[in-house]
Amino acid sequence: MAKLTVRDLSVSGQRVLVRVDYNVPMEEKDGRMVINDSTRIRETLPTLKLLQEKGARIILAAHLGRPDGKREPSLSLRPVSEKLAELIGKPVQFVDECVGEKAEAAAKALKNGEILLLENVRFHAEEEENDPVFAARLSVLADAYVNDAFGAAHRAHASTCGVARIISAWGGRCAAGLLMERELKFLGDELEAPARPFVVILGGAKVSDKIKVIDRLLEKADTILIGGAMAYTFKLAHGHKTGKSLVEPEHINTALDAESKAKELKVQFELPSDNVIAELKDTGKLNKKGKPVFEPVNPRVNTETDIPADCEGFDIGPATSARFSQIIQSARTILWNGPMGMFEDPRFGEGTLAVAKAVAAATANGAKSIIGGGDSVKAINKAKLGDKVTFMSTGGGASLEFLEGTPLPGVTCLDEN
Ligand code: 3PG
Repeated sequence: MAKLTVRDLSVSGQRVLVRVDYNVPMEEKDGRMVINDSTRIRETLPTLKLLQEKGARIILAAHLGRPDGKREPSLSLRPVSEKLAELIGKPVQFVDECVGEKAEAAAKALKNGEILLLENVRFHAEEEENDPVFAARLSVLADAYVNDAFGAAHRAHASTCGVARIISAWGGRCAAGLLMERELKFLGDELEAPARPFVVILGGAKVSDKIKVIDRLLEKADTILIGGAMAYTFKLAHGHKTGKSLVEPEHINTALDAESKAKELKVQFELPSDNVIAELKDTGKLNKKGKPVFEPVNPRVNTETDIPADCEGFDIGPATSARFSQIIQSARTILWNGPMGMFEDPRFGEGTLAVAKAVAAATANGAKSIIGGGDSVKAINKAKLGDKVTFMSTGGGASLEFLEGTPLPGVTCLDEN
């Protein structure tokens, strides 16, 4: 990677503004906000410990949720400061502002190796507007900048890139954190010249969400396996009936073009041959948007090419799972992005579980496996196989954009090495 990293910085006694992605899932329990998954916090520890060893004074900036520029108590980062203190085994200070007098005084009072977490930057609308005045107010807190927030690096916001441009302009160093470095290595460099066969597994709801990734990976992969609801748009494109399955009729040509490109490039392009389907029962309830809620009932395997008119497809079927697993186990490099079905419901989780097991088995046999963030990470963790793969991204949208080949503003703003 050509970017400067935190390893290259001499920051003893300096204040370093570190952008982290602490946008972690939380829920209210007994009147307190509790963190459900602290992976994103844990993953920043190597960067923070290195900065502590270097004698830096660490100021953490992060967002939580989408408060739309308003102070929203349930989206305060205070519980995150407590969790971080527990994980790092040292006190973490918290200030209920991210700019202005209070934040500046707290940053100034820091001693070498101490950590201060600022309040949610998105309590200010100027953050998402990448407002230069707001970025300048953040910049006065620090002497140098480190971005370890890969998950937010696709956002051109004040704390993810605006502030770096300002710190750079007056000669301060702007470097990638160790997590950022790992993410760029595995989702970028490692896939440039992968050991072959290189098998890409793509799932998720929509072809339109994944088409840029498909397009880019067709240039690199030996095999692409397609699962998830987006497979139904391919089915539709082949002239088959898809019942009530989620499809994008306006993307039939997108799907057909991807298949033609695969043929041209001699990439094996595999679609499901069977599915798990279910009928939809009206629960009589309405969702938050006022739309009727349907419940899948009578789930069963469908081996026909058509899906019955009253049914929706919710998972790949057992024959597809077996075929995909066999292909995955012969891979030497694997990239997985997107579940094979509605895995949150165990009735529709078998396909995703089979893929997760095959990826873990291939990894045990020496393959490099990279899990491209979001729901596929959730699925692999649900299967308790998180420690059996080579790398799991902490990014959701950021991983997808990076895999598409889109430059990330949070990375481009960092100094070159
Ligand atoms: C994420 O959770 O994907 C990142 O933290 C980015 O959050 P956002 O989609 O609200 O910008």
